[in-house]
Amino acid sequence: MEDFRAKKRRRERITALTAYDYPTARLLDESGIDIILVGDSLGMVVLGYTDTTEVKFEEMLHHTRAAARGVKRALLVADLSIGTYDIPEEAVANARQLVEAGAQAVKLEGGASHVAQIRAIVGAGIPLMAHIGMLPQSVRAEGGYKVKGRGAAEAERLLADARAVEDAGAFSVVLEIVAAEAARQITDAIGIPTIGIGSGEHCDGQILVTHDLIGLYPWFTPKFVSPEVQVAEEIRRAARIFIERTRGPVR
Ligand code: KIV
Repeated sequence: MEDFRAKKRRRERITALTAYDYPTARLLDESGIDIILVGDSLGMVVLGYTDTTEVKFEEMLHHTRAAARGVKRALLVADLSIGTYDIPEEAVANARQLVEAGAQAVKLEGGASHVAQIRAIVGAGIPLMAHIGMLPQSVRAEGGYKVKGRGAAEAERLLADARAVEDAGAFSVVLEIVAAEAARQITDAIGIPTIGIGSGEHCDGQILVTHDLIGLYPWFTPKFVSPEVQVAEEIRRAARIFIERTRGPVR
């Protein structure tokens, strides 16, 4: 984990993408990505749920096992899904299960409110990535995906969250949909790397949901993503060709 702090000191950007299965994890690993996240975003982009609040822990374990088989080099991080880290003992037990499934580190959503869980997980020898800003597991309570850290008071609260998770032992922190200026202030203020998603260019690294990057979930693309390819279109095209070839002329 010291490598990631060293990268920050050297101002080397950290790269992270999600994977939930063997071929994607293997392809990303072979491409040279630093971190592969088995995110609970799998709930939407793989399992077809409305949001991450429907993801079950068994599903996280199943997909972590699959992704782990494809990773040789990158750091594999897995999400603790909703309801699996409400108290420190439960957080540690479930983090251990993700490690047994093949993760090398775990991620949970929350800042100062989750210091006890972070300390317990790190104390158990499991590296922890924190996640602050917009917290998808709270999307229903929040009434949508909203930018965080726009006003001075909210930016201060986020900074306090970032300091709290660093102090508790997190090796990095995801900043999700945080106003760019607040993300810059946090990045300058803490010693662990910030990994941004929709949080501007000043973070120490960037993470994206791979399905968004490659256009594999065309029904919704976040505003801050510019897909590099349109894989969904290629799948439709290949399927249409196969259908035409198979049906052929009417016999
Ligand atoms: O679940 C996920 O994929 C995530 C990233 C978007 C940071 O938490």
